[in-house]
Amino acid sequence: MSATPPFFLRNLWYHAMPSRALKAGKLLAKTLLGEPVLFGRTAEGKAFALQDICPHRAIPLSCGWFDGNAVQCCYHGWKFDSAGHCTEIPSLMPDQQLDLNRFNVQAYSVQETQGNIWIYMPESDPAKAEPPRFEIPKIPGFEPQAQPNVTYTMRFPCFIDHAVVGLMDPAHSPYVHQAWWWRTSELHDEVKWFDPSPYGFTMRRHRIDHAGRLYGLIGGIPETEIIFYLPGLRTEETTTRKHRVVNLTTVTPISATETDVTFELYWDIPWGWLIKPLTIPLIKAFLGQDRDVVAKQQIGLKQDPVLRLIKDSDTPARWYYQLKNEYARSQAEKREFVTPVKSQQLRWRA
Ligand code: FES
Ligand SMILES: [Fe+2]
Repeated sequence: MSATPPFFLRNLWYHAMPSRALKAGKLLAKTLLGEPVLFGRTAEGKAFALQDICPHRAIPLSCGWFDGNAVQCCYHGWKFDSAGHCTEIPSLMPDQQLDLNRFNVQAYSVQETQGNIWIYMPESDPAKAEPPRFEIPKIPGFEPQAQPNVTYTMRFPCFIDHAVVGLMDPAHSPYVHQAWWWRTSELHDEVKWFDPSPYGFTMRRHRIDHAGRLYGLIGGIPETEIIFYLPGLRTEETTTRKHRVVNLTTVTPISATETDVTFELYWDIPWGWLIKPLTIPLIKAFLGQDRDVVAKQQIGLKQDPVLRLIKDSDTPARWYYQLKNEYARSQAEKREFVTPVKSQQLRWRA
């Protein structure tokens, strides 16, 4: 496994939260990649993000007030607009002219699309900050205004790499995701084609042969395509003759020891609301199994052991580390990103 010490990728988009978590005229403070970030939504509905530290005496701006337009610090009342510009210092006399721009607070780029808020996390050293190299992943077949039908976030007690690798791991399901009353020792052969895709890789579209009978209800034998993107995003698009269901899973580091995993579903099934109440308990149980196993893994990781990656079941994990390292290296060396992924068939038992 990678000998590089753990690090967060910078200069790319991270999933911040589902749009509906941020109401108009409200603020929401959240730590991302160890940095305190203050999210807000203006009265007009525009989402923004500022560093949650007042440039005057460092008190979190989230301790202050928001009138739907300006954030006001609770200590000396300085005001900042949604772009981070300092717009007022109440203690100044009318004849005391100061260039308020010297006291701006750092603003982050934010994009809102398909029911999610994304934040661009640049290198903290401005000399190393770069514009985005790639766009936020699209949910195929849905409009930019689409909202996920289901969204659920769970915090994993681990560094981002272990959350990503744990979620993509094709060999853990028979042990982690089965209940004691139906865990079988019977493993099946899996054979899938993988191809490189921008800043990630794709599990080639294929028929789900052992699909349950439920799929009859949504239009017959489904086909599925899974795309993985840095920094740890995954879309899984399942289509039948009639319908489409897309799962977006995002992984966002909170700190070196905590990671938020968000699981969302988009569907075009008109009666989807009927099954919606069932989905949250299932997602909770499923993600909970992944979280519990990485929580146990932390016990062993404290000893800082060397971890092993085997062919072929750990190949996606190996690609993740290679993609991540290449992304960081290509930026440090100011050159094009060269994908380490090659088209190939992977075979494993699960
Ligand atoms: S600390 Fe924020 S205005 Fe003084
Ligand atoms: Fe899992």
